[in-house]
Amino acid sequence: MGAKVSSRFVAGMTLDNAMRVAESVNKQGIAVTLDSLGESVTSENEAHRAAEIYHELLDAIAARKLDANISVKLTQMGLELSPRLAETIAANLARHAEANGSFVRIDMEDSRLTQVTLDIVRRLHARTDMRGAIGIVIQAYLYRSQADIEQLLADGIRVRLCKGAYKEPPDVAFPRKADVDRNFIRLSEMLLESPAYHALATHDENMIAAAKEYAAKHGIDRSRFEFQMLYGVRRDLQRKLVQEGYRVRVYVPFGTEWYPYFMRRLAERPANAIFLARNIFR
Ligand code: FDA
Repeated sequence: MGAKVSSRFVAGMTLDNAMRVAESVNKQGIAVTLDSLGESVTSENEAHRAAEIYHELLDAIAARKLDANISVKLTQMGLELSPRLAETIAANLARHAEANGSFVRIDMEDSRLTQVTLDIVRRLHARTDMRGAIGIVIQAYLYRSQADIEQLLADGIRVRLCKGAYKEPPDVAFPRKADVDRNFIRLSEMLLESPAYHALATHDENMIAAAKEYAAKHGIDRSRFEFQMLYGVRRDLQRKLVQEGYRVRVYVPFGTEWYPYFMRRLAERPANAIFLARNIFR
């Protein structure tokens, strides 16, 4: 049942499934970032096994000449067991990505992990053997994000901006959607102004319209940033942006540990439960 239920958002169970999806997405002129599903491992061995899949992915991407990079969660690399372990694993991945001309995006998890994730990415980015091959995610729902972006821009670190997908308390995150949206737009403008190549990850047409308008008004070329969306979400909008000459990248998750990923997608849009029900009863 799991495979059926999750197949709308997950590319399949195996690396081969993911490669096939990446190829077909690339054929539509859309770049890919691959996520080997899993988070919060409970042993060092598990962390190393998870990292191994990402090393295989980097080689498979290069062998097939795909327009793709990887998205990695530090808790899957053992962050909650030992930040040093996660940093070492992330360093090896970034070095491998750099050698292959690819890129590692470190996903952002819940707010207990924001600071340690930022610290690790900043330290790795400062190293010359992986510079440019590692970037981070910032969540517009956190009060701290503007200050974090200022620091990241000063360091020249590439940012993916999203609204944020975890349940956060009101002392760390804006409780009201209108405030999150306003902050997303403000932070998007900071990223668009910066010379580094950043990503705006959203399916919200208002956020996308605001970014397009800002870029047009300030003479920021469409090649200087990209929009990112999730696999299976708003394919119509993805195609439309490509037709308009914008760069688009789709986040493609694969693997057996789809449950927490899928539950976050349900929380964002309860209507997705209809897909779930349909697949269960089919
Ligand atoms: P919002 O939730 O306001 O939705 C706007 C519209 O988009 C909805 O009305 C609906 O039409 C559509 N939509 C949104 N979500 C949908 C869904 N699940 N199914 C169907 N339609 C949907 N978060 C995080 O905390 N850390 C991270 O590292 C990342 N990484 C990441 C990468 C990429 C490429 C994307 C696109 C998103 C993330 N996220 C994330 C998730 C992000 O924080 C956020 O939860 C979702 O993108 C939903 O927010 P929107 O910006 O789409 O707007």
